[in-house]
Amino acid sequence: MDLFDKCTLNLGPLGQYADQTEGYFMFPKLEGDISNRMIFHGKERLIWSLNNYLGLANHPEVRKADTEGAAAYGMAYPMGARMMSGQTNYHEQLERELATFVKREHAYLLNFGYQGILSVISSIVDRRDVIVYDSEVHACIIDGMRLHFGKRFVYPHNNMENLETQLKRATKMTAETGGGILVITEGVYGMSGDLGKLDKIVALKAKYNFRLLVDDAHGFGTMGPTGAGTDEHYGVQKDVDLYFATFAKSMAGIGGFIAGDYKVIKYLMYNMRSQIFAKSLPMPMVIGALKRLDIIRTQPEHRNKLWTIVNTLQSGLKEAGLDIGNTESPVTPVMLNGTVGEATQITYDLRENYNIFCSIVSYPVVPKGVILLRLIPTAVHTLEDVDYTIKAFKEVKQKLEQKAYTSEMADIENV
Ligand SMILES: Cc1ncc(COP(=O)(O)O)c(C=O)c1O
Repeated sequence: MDLFDKCTLNLGPLGQYADQTEGYFMFPKLEGDISNRMIFHGKERLIWSLNNYLGLANHPEVRKADTEGAAAYGMAYPMGARMMSGQTNYHEQLERELATFVKREHAYLLNFGYQGILSVISSIVDRRDVIVYDSEVHACIIDGMRLHFGKRFVYPHNNMENLETQLKRATKMTAETGGGILVITEGVYGMSGDLGKLDKIVALKAKYNFRLLVDDAHGFGTMGPTGAGTDEHYGVQKDVDLYFATFAKSMAGIGGFIAGDYKVIKYLMYNMRSQIFAKSLPMPMVIGALKRLDIIRTQPEHRNKLWTIVNTLQSGLKEAGLDIGNTESPVTPVMLNGTVGEATQITYDLRENYNIFCSIVSYPVVPKGVILLRLIPTAVHTLEDVDYTIKAFKEVKQKLEQKAYTSEMADIENV
C-alpha cells in the first residue's frame, strides 16, 4: 500500500463529506470588513460565527495601530527567535502590561495560541508528573499531552467528584514517582459556553497538592469585572498557577500569552520548544496587541455592549423554547435533534432564506442525532440582529419538528 492511498480512500471524520460541503459548509469565504454583516456567496449575511467578541477587528484605533506598526517595521522585524535575535522592547512592554492586567508576576508571548499552550504543557511536565484534565479540553491541550511521557488521567467534563477521584490516583502515583500534578481545564468551553468550575477546582487545593493551568481562550476580554478572564470572574486569580489566553478571539489578532509566577515563566522561556525554535511575533502584531489591550482596559463599553447582546440573545432564545444548554459565557449553542443531512439543510435554509451565517456542528464532533448551531454574539451586533435571529431560529425549530427538512444532504451545487 502506498503511504498516500489514505488521502483518497479515507479523508477522515471531517473530510468524509468534502465533496458535498467544501466552499459552503467547510472552508466558506467571508468577505468584506469584519463586522456583523459580511458577504458570503455574493450576498450580505448576518454573521454569528466570528470570535470578534469585543468588535475590535475593525475598530478604527486598532486598524490605525496595525497600519502604523506595519508601516514602521514591515512584517519581517524582528528576525529570528526571541532567544536568539528576536527580542524587542515592545515585546517586553506587552508582556509587562499583560501580566499587570491579569494580575500575575510575569507573562511571556506565544507566537500562536495552539503551539504555545502545547509547548507550555510539554515543557512544564516530565515523565514523573501526572496530568489530570477535563474530557472536553481543546485539541491543543490534547496534543500538548501527547508529548508528555508520564501518565494522564481524564475526568468527565466538569465532574468535580470524579476530578477528586483522579486527584487521589494522581497523588498516589506521584508519591511513587516523586513527580507533581498538573490539572488542566478551560475557563470557557468554546462549544458549549459553560465555564470550567474554577472555584471548585481551586478549593481542592486544600486537600491535594497540584498546580492548575487554565486555557482561557474565550474568557480573556469577555469574562470578569475588568475582562481579565474567567478566573477574575470567579475571584480565584491567585490560585490559577498558569493562565493562558490567545490573541485570536477578543483581541482579534494572532498570538497569545502565558502568565504566572516569575520563576515559572522564566523556566518556560528557556524550555518551550515552540518558542525557542520559532520566529518571534512580528512587530505589527505586538504593536497592534498593545493597542487592543489598551482598549480592553480603558473602554469597558465594548464589553458592556457585548453582554447586552449576549443576555438579550440568550434569554430570547430560551423564551422561544430553544435549548441553549448551560452556557454562562457569550458562546451561545443552540441544540436541535436531527441527522447530519437535516443539519446541512437547516444551515442552508438559514444562510439562503434568512441570510444568517452561523457555525454548525454535527456528528462526529457532537453525539449522533445532535445538531449544534453555534452563535457568537459580539459588540458590533445590534438588538435588531438579535430579534431577527431569535425569530428565525424559532421558525427553523418548528420546521424541523414538522419534518420539513429531509435527511438528504443539502444540495449546494448551484449555489
Ligand atoms: C480553547 C482554545 N485554546 C487554544 C486555541 C488556539 O489558539 P490560536 O487560534 O491562537 O492558535 C483555541 C483557538 O481556537 C481555543 O479555542
